Amino acid sequence: MKLTIIGTGYVGLVTGACFAEVGHEVICVDSDASKVKLLQAGGIPIFEPGLEDLVKSNVAAGRLSFTNSTREGVEKSAIVFIAVPTPPLADGAVDLSFIEGVARDIANSMTSYKIVVDKSTVPVKTGDKVAETIKRYCKSGAEFDVISNPEFLREGFAVEDLMHPDRVVIGVRSQRPVQAMREVYEPFNAPIIFTDINSAELIKHAANSFLALKISYINAVSILCEASGANVQEVANGIGMDARIGRRFLDASLGFGGSCFPKDLSAFIKISEQLGYDFGLLKEVQKINAQQMERFLKKISDTLWVLKDKKIGVLGLAFKQNTDDVRMSPAIDLCQRLLKEGATLRVYDPEAMEKAKAVLPTVTYVADMNSVPEGCDAVVIATEWPVFKKLDLERARKVMTHPILFDGRNLFDPKEMESLGFIYKSIGRP
Ligand code: UGA
Repeated sequence: MKLTIIGTGYVGLVTGACFAEVGHEVICVDSDASKVKLLQAGGIPIFEPGLEDLVKSNVAAGRLSFTNSTREGVEKSAIVFIAVPTPPLADGAVDLSFIEGVARDIANSMTSYKIVVDKSTVPVKTGDKVAETIKRYCKSGAEFDVISNPEFLREGFAVEDLMHPDRVVIGVRSQRPVQAMREVYEPFNAPIIFTDINSAELIKHAANSFLALKISYINAVSILCEASGANVQEVANGIGMDARIGRRFLDASLGFGGSCFPKDLSAFIKISEQLGYDFGLLKEVQKINAQQMERFLKKISDTLWVLKDKKIGVLGLAFKQNTDDVRMSPAIDLCQRLLKEGATLRVYDPEAMEKAKAVLPTVTYVADMNSVPEGCDAVVIATEWPVFKKLDLERARKVMTHPILFDGRNLFDPKEMESLGFIYKSIGRP
């Protein structure tokens, strides 16, 4: 099928590449001329495992192309996906100006029937607004359907998630676009659920908020574990084996971050408020998340006492493993707080150092993880990169001024760390 995707961020670019991979002919549109140039030249603006190969092979096969021109994208495809950012406003509501702008651009370019698919995360009822806008600005009077198709991919696993989705959600108002959307997703062999548009939009915010709630729940349980001598990983395994609960997203941590959970929680709380409901449960999720960082910082200052002039090594800057994304990263927040207290930092991340430089200009970037501990009073693990489990601990103990390790991601075994001679503090474990 011929498909156009507007926006080449995480969602748009990965969706475009995966649609091309299964045989569709895809045009990706972006208003950023330099980004389009980079993509046309075979460059990838983000680090995402598997994405570069996928883009290169599909460009070479002639199934994937990039352009600045929305008009070209709309003219050449009957199905146009919107995958532009929906950033937060200062009050937690969602900035829908990119969506509105794209809706107008599509309307201006339409001369025949189009299916306009919203893939961006948007507040419930946005579909109605997009349809109104297209109707108002479409001079040709061409027919169209606006539908909602939220994306559930995780950064760092985006290609895998898109190629093998748990489910595909499609919100429609009429039957007309249904068959075409079935054909778009048929090659993915995933269950497809068709709903009304409002439900599809709501599913996205409700899913992300629920996952954030799961993390805050286990983080709250980790506080009880610390107070009672229980082990949060064992508790998570024990409750997670109940199929009704599930083990995933029950890893206690210094808190969740990224460009989705914090933003979507705020948005969902705001949307609820506008619909007349005070979603206090989600406010508590936010509160627990913020507390988790405070509690972790307190562990550091309780052990090191004064942080001024202490040299601290930090492993991890990305908001999670497998990505170079540092937006709303708990690791960056942690570094900024430590710097504010007067500590000096030696930092390392397998992928995110370049992007971190803009927000952390005054730290020492170290080329390999095993050199980070040199001369440090303590080392902190801030991101769950699996490679950090391979840290040379014997060497670290020898080169550190004091063998103290704060593990914000529970990567090591407390008993083993103790036997290696470390003072080791993690989350929710004795
Ligand atoms: C999240 C959702 O998982 C995706 O389904 C959704 O499509 C995406 O948001 C989005 O709305 O675009 P993402 O933000 O890429 O995906 O990353 P996650 O893997 O969900 O991790 C989010 C944060 O939670 C990270 O900081 C991670 O370290 C933290 N986390 C995750 C925990 O602290 N504990 C866990 O058990 C799991």
